[in-house]
Amino acid sequence: MNDKLTVIVIEDDPPMRLGCVQAIQLAGFNALGFGTAEEALKAISPGFAGVVVTDLKLPGMDGMNFVERCHDIDPDLPVIIITGHGDIAVAVEAMRNGAYDFITKPFRPEGLVDVVRRATEKRSLTLEISNLRQRLARIEGVEAKLIGRSPQMQRVRHLVAEIADASVDVLIRGETGVGKELVAQALHRLSRRRGGHFVALNCGGISEDLLDSELFGHEAGAFSGAQKRRIGKLEHANHGTLFLDELESMQMNVQVKLLRVLQDRVIERVGSNQQISIDCRIIAAAKTDLMDHVQAGTFRSDLYYRLNVVTIYLPPLRERREDIPLLLEYFMLLSASRFGRPQPKISTEQMNRLMAYSWPGNVRELRNVADCLVLGIPKEGLTAADGRAGSAGHSLTEWVNDFERNLIENELRRFGGNLTQTANALKVPKTTLHDKIRKYGLSA
Ligand SMILES: Nc1ncnc2c1ncn2[C@@H]1O[C@H](COP(=O)(O)OP(=O)(O)OP(=O)(O)O)[C@@H](O)[C@H]1O
Ligand SMILES: [Mg+2]
Repeated sequence: MNDKLTVIVIEDDPPMRLGCVQAIQLAGFNALGFGTAEEALKAISPGFAGVVVTDLKLPGMDGMNFVERCHDIDPDLPVIIITGHGDIAVAVEAMRNGAYDFITKPFRPEGLVDVVRRATEKRSLTLEISNLRQRLARIEGVEAKLIGRSPQMQRVRHLVAEIADASVDVLIRGETGVGKELVAQALHRLSRRRGGHFVALNCGGISEDLLDSELFGHEAGAFSGAQKRRIGKLEHANHGTLFLDELESMQMNVQVKLLRVLQDRVIERVGSNQQISIDCRIIAAAKTDLMDHVQAGTFRSDLYYRLNVVTIYLPPLRERREDIPLLLEYFMLLSASRFGRPQPKISTEQMNRLMAYSWPGNVRELRNVADCLVLGIPKEGLTAADGRAGSAGHSLTEWVNDFERNLIENELRRFGGNLTQTANALKVPKTTLHDKIRKYGLSA
C-alpha cells in the first residue's frame, strides 16, 4: 500500500535534494523534489496521498511556517523536518508545532527512509479510515441500515416501507439476532410518529406488581415509596411507538391488562382518576410462533389476534446466506471506523467458512465476528487463518468435519451442555457424541 504514496521533498540545495529523492525512490516510494515551500504547497491538497519531508531553512517561507500551512490544508498530514547539526531546540519547537518527526544533518539515507516509512504507514491508516467513514456515510444513507440483498430481505424492506406510515399494529417474528428490533425502529423512523418516542418494553422482565407503575405510571404518594410522579411507558410512547419485546414471555395476568389498554386506548396513572388517552402504535416481537403458545394455553388468543394484524417474518441468516458478504462488509466498516483500525481483507477460504457456518446467533453473531476480524482476535473455527487456510481450499472431508463440528457445538450450546438431550436431538448414541466431542476438542 505504501508504494502508492508520494513523498514530497523540499530542499533548496540541489545535490542534497537529489540525494534524498533517490534514496526515497530506491525504498519503493514515489518522490517529488521541490526547491521552495511555496512551490510544494501547490502540490498538496486535503487528503494528499503521501507525506512531506522539508528542510527547515529555506529561501522564502521557512520550514516552520510551512508545517502550519500544511496543517491548514490537512491537519493529519505528516511533515518531517530536516534540521541543521545542533539545532535541537528548533527541532523541538517544530515538533511542538505539529511536525511528525525530525532528522538531523548529516544523516544516512537509511535514517531518512526509516522515518519516511513510519510516516507513510501512519498516513495510510489515516487515509484508509477516512475513506471507510465516507463509504459508511453513503451506505447508511442509501440502505437506511436494513442491509441485505436476498429476496427475503428485499421483501422485508418493501413491506416496512409500505406499512410504516399506516396506523396498523405489527408483529415481528424471528429467531434471536435476526434484526427484529432494527425493523421496529425502522418502522418508527419511517412513520409519521417519528417525532414521538420509541419505547421498548421487555415483556419477560415484568411481573404483575411491577406492571402497573411501569406501564401506567403513578402519582406522587400513590403508594408507599412513590415519592415523585412517574410517567409510565405507555404515556411516554404517546404519539410514538411502543415496542413490546419478547411478547411470548408475557405473563397471563399481564396479558389481560395489556389487552384492556389496547382496546380502550386510555390509561390512568396509579393514584389518579384522570383518564389519559393514549395514541401509540404497538409493535411486538416474538422469537416463536405465538399460535403454539395460544394452543398451549400460555398466550391469550384474543391478544394474539389483536396484535397480529400485520406480521413481518425475518428468516434466520442460514436461510439467506447471500446476505452474509454484504453484512460482513458493512459491520467491518462500522467496526474499523469505530476502533480506528484498517479494514481487514477476507480470504476466499475465510469467506467460504463464513458462508457455510450455521449462524445460530444470526446477524448479531455475524456482527461480533466482524468486530473480532477487525481487532485481529481469532474466533475458533471461523476467522482464524490457521494452517489449513494456507492450503489450496477445503477437501470434502474438511467441509463435512467443519459442518459436523459446528452442528454439535450449536446443539450443545442449545441444551446447555446436556449430553443426553444433545444426543437425542442429533439422533446419535451418547457414546458417538462423546467421541465426536473429543475428536473436535469441544467441551460440554
Ligand atoms: N439487516 C440488517 N442490517 C444491518 N444490521 C442488522 C440487520 N439485522 C440485524 N442487524 C444488527 O444485528 C444486531 C441484532 O439485531 P436486533 O437487536 O434487531 O435483533 P433481534 O431480532 O431483536 O434479536 P433478539 O431476539 O435477540 O432480541 C443489531 O446490532 C442490528 O443492528
Ligand atoms: Mg431484540
